[in-house]
Amino acid sequence: MKTETTIQGLSASLSPARSARKIIGFVPTMGNLHEGHLNLVREARKLCDVVVVSIFVNPIQFGPNEDFENYPRTLEQDSRLLADVGCDIVFAPTVEQMYGNKPRFTNISVSDITNDLCGLQRPGHFDGVAVVVTKLFNIVQPNFAFFGQKDYQQLAVIRQFVRDLNIPLEVIGVPITRAEDGLALSSRNGYLTEEQRKIAPTIFQSLKAAEQELHNGVSLVEVLENIKHTLTQVGFIVDYVEARTPELQKIEEFNQNVILFIAAKLGTTRLIDNLQVKQTV
Ligand code: PAF
Repeated sequence: MKTETTIQGLSASLSPARSARKIIGFVPTMGNLHEGHLNLVREARKLCDVVVVSIFVNPIQFGPNEDFENYPRTLEQDSRLLADVGCDIVFAPTVEQMYGNKPRFTNISVSDITNDLCGLQRPGHFDGVAVVVTKLFNIVQPNFAFFGQKDYQQLAVIRQFVRDLNIPLEVIGVPITRAEDGLALSSRNGYLTEEQRKIAPTIFQSLKAAEQELHNGVSLVEVLENIKHTLTQVGFIVDYVEARTPELQKIEEFNQNVILFIAAKLGTTRLIDNLQVKQTV
């Protein structure tokens, strides 16, 4: 496995694969890798000849009071894990390599689907994601790019601008990887205290209970209220509990497939999760 830290170095490393028309798979990450990321790489490995993983903590997607400075940077450990799952090239650029030292005047802003859920609490976040992911797509020029469904809204935003801007690649969404107790894997789980870690799976448990209630005919409004109540009782500060169609449109009744979304804080750690509940009729 090679590690490249410059755009030029990465292009040189990829050049033989491009000339041989090999299928290039790309997994963008911010590092501090866990099984969820490794599953994205495993999926990429299945479909592609060459797998590139980027590790870049992108400053422009963090708000002023978010954890950019403290975000865990664990390149050595990440590299070992990536080598084990068959990554071919790690691209780990510096902020200067990605953004240069001249001002940036171009933004990429996806409307409508960024106006609520995480977009409400994290203004500018999805613009920052869209800019960095577009830059990375242009640098790597992959055939396929892999993203986790845990960040469902992010995945929808990326699919949208890829379609809107005719970016020539296919976006693959990979199901959420969970710990045995159901907690969706996330680098931010590492911020939880031992006590909070025990409480955190309540998010998934409340989603599964909601699924059951919906299938038993309980109204969507009541189901969402029940989730909020359960989470608040065990100590979460609920940011949102919402129901949307798979295309992220608002939905009032369970009359089609619905995705239940949760964002909630335990102490200072904000966790998100989602579950698709299918209409069985
Ligand atoms: O999901 C992430 O880790 C980041 O938002 C991404 C897609 C790597 C962009 O920085």
